[in-house]
Amino acid sequence: MTNPLSEAGRSSRATAPCVLVIFGATGDLTSRKLAPALYNLGRDGLLPPNFICVGFARRKKTNEDFRQELKGDVSSFSRSKPVDELFWSHFQEQLFYHCSEFDNDEGYRALATLLAQIDSKYGTRGNRVFYLSVQPKFFPMIIEKLRKFGMIYDAHKTKDKWSRVIIEKPFGHDSASAEELQTQIAQYLHETQTYRIDHYLGKETVQNLLVFRFANSIFESLWNSNHVDHIQITVSEDIGIGSRGHFFEEEGLLRDIVQNHMMQLLSLVAMEPPVSLSAGAIRDEKVKVLQSVRPIAEGDFVRGQYAPGFIDGQGVCGYREEKDVAPNSTVETYVALRLFVDNWRWAGVPFYLRSGKRLPKRATEIAIVFKDAPGVLFQQNGKKHDRNVLAIRIQPDEGISMKINCKVPGPSSPIQPVKMDFRYGSYFGAAPPEAYERLIWDCMTGDSTLFARSDEVFHSWKILTPLLEAWAAKGAQDLPQYASGSWGPEEANTLIAKDNRSWRKL
Ligand code: BG6
Repeated sequence: MTNPLSEAGRSSRATAPCVLVIFGATGDLTSRKLAPALYNLGRDGLLPPNFICVGFARRKKTNEDFRQELKGDVSSFSRSKPVDELFWSHFQEQLFYHCSEFDNDEGYRALATLLAQIDSKYGTRGNRVFYLSVQPKFFPMIIEKLRKFGMIYDAHKTKDKWSRVIIEKPFGHDSASAEELQTQIAQYLHETQTYRIDHYLGKETVQNLLVFRFANSIFESLWNSNHVDHIQITVSEDIGIGSRGHFFEEEGLLRDIVQNHMMQLLSLVAMEPPVSLSAGAIRDEKVKVLQSVRPIAEGDFVRGQYAPGFIDGQGVCGYREEKDVAPNSTVETYVALRLFVDNWRWAGVPFYLRSGKRLPKRATEIAIVFKDAPGVLFQQNGKKHDRNVLAIRIQPDEGISMKINCKVPGPSSPIQPVKMDFRYGSYFGAAPPEAYERLIWDCMTGDSTLFARSDEVFHSWKILTPLLEAWAAKGAQDLPQYASGSWGPEEANTLIAKDNRSWRKL
């Protein structure tokens, strides 16, 4: 597996022997994403020859229990099925379980001993990846204890082995808390050891954005305010919050999706070409986009909350009826906004972003909508033709399509928009690896290109924290409900309609 978005990826990178310790090993993310990712990396021969995974969690269980559970997770959630029994019989020998509370010194002391034993028995050479798949409030404590018990090394002094920490999102709750969290962890962890994960960056289609923009000469000259009318970014999900009531009540949609996934998409689509493919060069350009975003004006953002409705013909409850959600909750499950990137390339081009739960379908898309062609030749009865649209489908049905106007065959010559369509699935004929596979592998090889740097996170919070503050001040006021299965509140349509534009039909 090579990463086209890194210099290192162009020569083949090798993973060094290491131990991966997953904090929160009995949680949902481990079951659905991490266990299948490790299994598939192993099957594809991408794990290092000397590799061990240790699950760290509070529930008591044996290594054997842990192995059985992970096998169940793999058989339910892996992209490749059924479980390859022969491979699994070897792979499971590399899985261990360690039970401890996150605040218990004894648990960390015992972990350090276990890891030392693993090093001498399995040749993992002291190299460590710690994956923090826990509630954000535990991040500083775990990192401090790992350092205290010698498992996070001094990045400057230790050269013969390495330690890296993958931190799940959200990184902070707003501008102030993100900076405070960074200050806390920076006492123990150097930036080069910090891997802030945003799994969207591990998606093949997201990585392809830069290849598409900068490996094709035809787009770059059009990619600016001279030719682009506006850009729409949509992250729509038909699912509700499921069993994540506690999490969602804390976070809401802006923190869950917009602050990270959508801001990453925005940065990648709007950035200047980087000077090289190094992690630093790419992240520098992404940060400049965020720095150029004009403060979002009052009236340029709306929120909503899903009410009961129908998804695929099935009745579903409203957000306030979900488990672990307050009956008078004011947490948003939908956000739409308009923002401007005030730089030479994008001055005056609106970026419309929308995301929500319980919308009619799952679809993530970036649409570049080009300006109208002058109507002098082909306008029919004063009616404008459709604008050219380059639609980059991040998921599902990953691909890229271009809407162009075309002459319908025959003498009357009406003009009709048609689509040129590229689909990953049918062209490459294979399911792309899951985002988590790529990102875990990148971390093991020491490539942080596809992880968020601290300044990216801070700038993103800086743009969005005023929205959170405005909503907190309003409480339940201006919190429209939208029927589950609809495209969100009417206020979102008004937001874009005031510019004489409309949301794309997906
Ligand atoms: C996660 C969010 O980061 O991304 C979830 O916490 C969301 O709320 C999920 O459902 C979407 O991920 P994907 O890969 O299915 O688009």
